[in-house]
Amino acid sequence: MNTKIKLAFLFTAMFIIALVITSFQEKETKVKDSEYVQEVLAQLGDKVPLNYISTNKLDSVKVKQGENLVHFGFTDPTNKSLFENKQSKHFVCTDCHNTQKEDPDLSISNPDTRLTYVAENKMKFLPGTTLFGTTNKSHWYNEDYLKKYGDLVVPARDTLQNAIQLCAVVCSQGRALDETEMEAMMHYFTSISYKVRDLKLTEVEKQFIGNALIKGTNNTEVIKLIKSKYLDFSPATFMKPQSVENRSFGKEGNAQKGKQIYELSCLTCHKEGGVTNYKLSDEQLAFKHLKYWSNTHKVFSVYDITRKGTYSKNGYKPYMPNYTKERLSDQQLEDLMKYINVMAEKGTIQKITGTPSF
Ligand code: HEC
Ligand code: HEC
Repeated sequence: MNTKIKLAFLFTAMFIIALVITSFQEKETKVKDSEYVQEVLAQLGDKVPLNYISTNKLDSVKVKQGENLVHFGFTDPTNKSLFENKQSKHFVCTDCHNTQKEDPDLSISNPDTRLTYVAENKMKFLPGTTLFGTTNKSHWYNEDYLKKYGDLVVPARDTLQNAIQLCAVVCSQGRALDETEMEAMMHYFTSISYKVRDLKLTEVEKQFIGNALIKGTNNTEVIKLIKSKYLDFSPATFMKPQSVENRSFGKEGNAQKGKQIYELSCLTCHKEGGVTNYKLSDEQLAFKHLKYWSNTHKVFSVYDITRKGTYSKNGYKPYMPNYTKERLSDQQLEDLMKYINVMAEKGTIQKITGTPSF
């Protein structure tokens, strides 16, 4: 072989090796989308939370039992003997909480972007915060919930287990979980905690995190970066019902969005077969009734009921949670009102996309 060919061969070989090395390095060093955020933080030396269960130690049987509890009210829906001891006769957790990601950007709690997101992903639009990523939070029942539940909330603010028990007894109007059930629920919630792919990280940031994981340096900075990508609590601002004079009765509303709110929120509880006695439907009469009461401060006024909710009574346990500003904005109430008006008059609106069938 002459030298020229030899050299060309050598260069090509070196080029290929370099290419392989760089591509290999990129793949290896960027933090993986499938990694659990809690594990990345733990590896970077962040203090692990009270409720921490390593995702390597998740027990798939417990995860399934926890999932069943949240969705059906008992750990094994095929076991009839458990039915007697259902967590609540009135509700399951998923009447008020989603169990999937519901905000496109986890660092912002915004009901507008959430409504679009849940409609696209065929989920509900509910008064409670999603339980997806609840183990990534450090505070529960925040801000104005203290006003509603007072001292009851104090032990639930910094401990997830206490928050769950409070909700099991007070929100669900049921019984507290026993130790095995709580363990199962914590395994389930850990399994639905944030992964790297849920955060809005740029490729450069993923590289930055990946490098820190390898080197073990610069950690405080990297931990801060990761935590800036999600809220560690769900903000909650209570609203007073708007005064009758300040209501625009849907004049400025968007009927399509109103329809989404009606179907993905109100109807999930108030439809035939839902958890309430008081029924709502797509009948013109239901809309006429809501329209009729909307210029009052009575219980059937959507402006009042959404902001105040209802309370459990001794003889009748189901109640309606109030919607905070972060779960339903005043503009969204106007959208709902617009839809109610349209339906009360004509009784039809074009079918919109993304309406799930529950
Ligand atoms: C009738 C409605 C309702 C039911 C049923 C319900 N919850 Fe809640 N829950 C709420 C509301 C409202 C809050 C207030 C805070 C929030 O979620 O934004 C809340 C708060 C929570 C929180 C704290 C969330 C946070 O980020 O602050 C947890 C955890 C929780 N519930 C778990 C459960 C579990 C587990 C069940 C089933 C055993 C359940 N809930 C059933 C309405 C409900
Ligand atoms: C998590 C379940 C849930 C959701 C979501 C919900 N409600 Fe309710 N609502 C209830 C419960 C429970 C009551 C208590 C009365 C009953 O059970 O019939 C109630 C009561 C009401 C009442 C008063 C009825 C009465 O007899 O006192 C109105 C009006 C109402 N809801 C409208 C709405 C509207 C409008 C929406 C959507 C913005 C909505 N609800 C969303 C559960 C819910």
